Amino acid sequence: MTPVLSLEAVTKTFTTGSTTIAAVDHIDLTVDPGELVIIMGPSGSRKSTLLQIIGALLSPTSGTVSINGRPLGSLTHRELADLRLHDIGFIFQGFNLLDALNATDNVAAPAALTGMKRSARRLRAQVLLDQLDLADRSHHRPDQLSGGEKQRVAIARALINNPSLILADEPTANLDAASGYQVLHLLQDIAAATGKTVLIVTHDHRIADAADRLLWLTDGVLHDRHADFATAIDPVCGMEILIERAAATRTSGDSQTLSFCSQLCADKYDLRPNFYDLPQAGSAVNRPPINHPQRS
Ligand SMILES: Nc1ncnc2c1ncn2[C@@H]1O[C@H](COP(=O)(O)OP(=O)(O)OP(=O)(O)O)[C@@H](O)[C@H]1O
Ligand SMILES: [Mg+2]
Repeated sequence: MTPVLSLEAVTKTFTTGSTTIAAVDHIDLTVDPGELVIIMGPSGSRKSTLLQIIGALLSPTSGTVSINGRPLGSLTHRELADLRLHDIGFIFQGFNLLDALNATDNVAAPAALTGMKRSARRLRAQVLLDQLDLADRSHHRPDQLSGGEKQRVAIARALINNPSLILADEPTANLDAASGYQVLHLLQDIAAATGKTVLIVTHDHRIADAADRLLWLTDGVLHDRHADFATAIDPVCGMEILIERAAATRTSGDSQTLSFCSQLCADKYDLRPNFYDLPQAGSAVNRPPINHPQRS
């Protein structure tokens, strides 16, 4: 079986002044059809950079990315644009809907680029909106939609050209818990019912359990976190973090060591130490309810 996605020693370096850093460092990954893979990592761990490389929006400095067995480096600009259009559905971190278009026309837009007739693509957009429970929102513009509705429109748009690979950048990060779960279940259903491959990058630990495979990105390096690292829940933001990379630690009233993703969360904890539900000692599995969905 040809993997939908494979990465071999993929590296991306950025140079600022006299310093060159490996933003993405020798990543190997193979994803099969129908798999739902979640890559978790804290803010700044290069999740978006990696996803843009996988989605053929950014070229790696070295290594090979292949989609459905085709190495991207061997494709012409035109072939690459075609592959982006037909094989990949991208759900962006900030929805990226066009403000002037209603939901139907936003969803239908990528189909126009394939040459599909207007009536056919609007019909297909309508069917997708219907499936995503948005039939009564099809004439609404993005500013008339809630966050969860916008995200579902973005999912419908990602599906319009029937791609084999769906890439989602923080699809639940800006949503309340109920909308986040709805969006996640949609992505799960898409993987299970249609055999499409779904790759999500996120720092939202609430969705980790949905994955067929869960990986961890830290400083641009990909790990099987269970094998490599001990993790803990930051009691303030609810994020799962690598204990060895905690930005700050505190000792709770019952002598638990608490780990924080950032100084900001530690400062918030210091202000109101009794306000937060503490994780069970020594356990990252018993997750407290999230207190706010996205670090500010
Ligand atoms: N073009 C670039 N030039 C230099 N550095 C870059 C560039 N692109 C990304 N980086 C480095 O990578 C860091 C974070 O990358 P990225 O946005 O991929 O992380 P992320 O995990 O998606 O973060 P977030 O959770 O905040 O969305 C940037 O802060 C920057 O240091
Ligand atoms: Mg990002």
